[in-house]
Amino acid sequence: MHVFKTNKDLIYFLENERIKGNKIGFVPTMGALHPGHMALIRNALKDNDISVCSIFVNPTQFNNEEDLKKYPRKVEEDLGKLEHEGCQVVYLPEDHELYDDPSMLRTTINFGGIENILEGRYRPGHLKGVGLIVAKLFNIVKPHNAYFGQKDIQQFYLIRQLIHDLSYDIRLHCIPTQREEDGLAMSSRNRRIPPEYRPVASKFYECLLECKQLLKDGQDVEGIISFANDYLSGFFPLRLEYIALVGTEDFSLLNRKMDSGQQALCIAGYIDNIRIIDNVLLN
Ligand code: PAF
Repeated sequence: MHVFKTNKDLIYFLENERIKGNKIGFVPTMGALHPGHMALIRNALKDNDISVCSIFVNPTQFNNEEDLKKYPRKVEEDLGKLEHEGCQVVYLPEDHELYDDPSMLRTTINFGGIENILEGRYRPGHLKGVGLIVAKLFNIVKPHNAYFGQKDIQQFYLIRQLIHDLSYDIRLHCIPTQREEDGLAMSSRNRRIPPEYRPVASKFYECLLECKQLLKDGQDVEGIISFANDYLSGFFPLRLEYIALVGTEDFSLLNRKMDSGQQALCIAGYIDNIRIIDNVLLN
């Protein structure tokens, strides 16, 4: 497995692979890899000749200093998992390879509104930070295929729009959320859930399934919000931040389930001070 720390070395290596006619798959991550990431890697390995996994905790997508500081960093463990899976290339840049100074960014991408609702509303600047780093990584890696998880569904649709609007020649793949046995969506942040609260963590997913059924039975979104608030408040220390229905075509907010088109029911909340997001598809 090749581990590159500079853009220059990675670009040189991948250029040679492209000249040989090899197809490149890309899985961008922030490390602390879990089985959800490994599912993305396995898909990349299946479709491509060379798979690249980047590990970079991107400072510009954190709207909260504390969250950035506490974000789990497990590089040695991550490299072991990637090697074991058969990943050929890891890109492990220092901050200065990607930003001279993250607080001095002048270029931002406007996504036309998708970056300001849901995750964008509760984590101001987060999705713009994601969009910019993914654009930078795409320019460096120039993959044929890129793999993202369904758990971060708004991120997925923002990147779909980025690829379309900036004419990247990249095929985007959405890989279904991997879950723990009790249904909790796998996430790097799950490591921070205190063990005494772990048993209630799956209630977010159970709440989503209950709400999905209510929507199918004709309940509107206002009713769902009030149901979810009541449901989660029964499980200390869970707290709902939002639950919302979106049409995935343009990621617009909906008031009730539609008969046609794909829709996603998205939830965000807290277990104590650990933020959880999840979603289920409706059709
Ligand atoms: O999903 C993530 O881990 C991050 O948002 C990403 C796509 C690697 C960008 O930093």
